[in-house]
Amino acid sequence: MTYNIIVGRNDSDRKKLGERGTVFLGRHYVRMGQSVSLSSNIFLDVARPHVMLIVGKRGSGKSHSLGVIAEEMSKLPEDISQNLSVVIFDTMGIFWTMKYPNNRDENLLRTWNLKPEKLDTIDVWIPEGYFKEYKEKGVLADKKLSIKTSELDAGDWAGVFSVDLMDPVGILIENVIGGLKESKKDYSILDIINEIKKSKTSEKNVKDASINRFLAASNWGIFKKGGTEIRDLVQRGRVSVLDISCYTHVAGSWGIKTLVTGLISKKLLLDRMIARKLEELETIESGSGLFDLEKEETKEEMPLVWLMIDEAHSFIPKEGKTGASDALIQLLREGRQPGISMVLASQQPGELAKDAITQADIVLSHRLTAKKDIVALNNIMQTYLSSDVQKYLTTLPRMAGAAILLDDNSERIYPMNVRPRVTWHGGEAPTAVKLKSQEILDLGFEV
Ligand SMILES: Nc1ncnc2c1ncn2[C@@H]1O[C@H](COP(=O)(O)OP(=O)(O)OP(=O)(O)O)[C@@H](O)[C@H]1O
Ligand SMILES: [Mg+2]
Repeated sequence: MTYNIIVGRNDSDRKKLGERGTVFLGRHYVRMGQSVSLSSNIFLDVARPHVMLIVGKRGSGKSHSLGVIAEEMSKLPEDISQNLSVVIFDTMGIFWTMKYPNNRDENLLRTWNLKPEKLDTIDVWIPEGYFKEYKEKGVLADKKLSIKTSELDAGDWAGVFSVDLMDPVGILIENVIGGLKESKKDYSILDIINEIKKSKTSEKNVKDASINRFLAASNWGIFKKGGTEIRDLVQRGRVSVLDISCYTHVAGSWGIKTLVTGLISKKLLLDRMIARKLEELETIESGSGLFDLEKEETKEEMPLVWLMIDEAHSFIPKEGKTGASDALIQLLREGRQPGISMVLASQQPGELAKDAITQADIVLSHRLTAKKDIVALNNIMQTYLSSDVQKYLTTLPRMAGAAILLDDNSERIYPMNVRPRVTWHGGEAPTAVKLKSQEILDLGFEV
């Protein structure tokens, strides 16, 4: 008899919730002599906050698996999904395709009792300055993303411009931003430039160098007065795809991508912390449980958030720091309490900041070959596994989606196959020749 496996769920939640508040990930591989077959269904708990790490070498299925979780989250029953929200930082521009059904794999899906499906719960956010261009080119764009200029401090600007705060340009930036912040008014990049022009303490060449950098930043089309509210990004029962792939061809591309990710993550943590306090107050008054996903009358102040980041080693590398390092590491350490889950995907776990490894309570590892990456994984698992990861990995069938799933809760490891995507998987199209929505339509899909 086969039974269902739930990872990330403790015994008391298992008794209380049964299989509610879980999502279907795939099926367990069972070895009988020389043959391997797919057996029990594997579900992932989404009722509690988790840190999940998805690793594997190039083309092993990481982005695909990330997409499977996002798909499942938007298919949860409404009473649960209304208290959850997914935010994907999409640096490669590959997740907008979730709006289209995966007709390409119809036969494969049938073997899993699944059908191609499109999802209507996806919002694709594009930096405001690129929105029109995307629309004109026929690339999918739903909402305009922007960040309040005043949310960046001098250090953020110095970081993204790669200047030292002790350099003349850095000193000028620090003075100007300090002055603007003191005024307590909202300001734009143009206001910063005007203040630089007015500065009496800096040489002309220093002012010009600073102005040039801010002019370049204004071309990124993301910083403005006002800016997108976190509450608009985090929508009940919806998936927000923040497509920042437009910066791929801009000088300092990763600096911009990490800065944007860092700033949004920082704001998200602050907002969720405030919301959590209000929710706790309500819990104390009403006596209901923590993270009560099924509250009927009183919804959570703000939905719990699942933050997904592909290519995570570019955001939180082991060596050095990016514009997102501080915010993401704080989220890894403190995010669960206010209800922020993280799903990080990376082809190089050996290059990831230590916190990404040590904080993860669920690890999905597709095929890995580099020794240092296997060592990094072994380090997490050694605590409770006598046999090493390599053995599990080498015995995995060479199938797309094959992986080992490590559950810190049950201290167990499951060889498995992640289910195929019901929506179109965009990871295969090279970003430079991004498929337009019209082209997908031309492939004969009904949308
Ligand atoms: N569970 C699965 N079922 C069926 N096919 C899969 C599955 N997982 C991955 N694939 C196939 O494998 C291909 C590679 O997957 P994916 O793009 O997710 O790799 P990746 O690990 O993200 O690679 P990269 O490191 O280059 O980003 C996909 O195009 C998809 O067709
Ligand atoms: Mg990928």
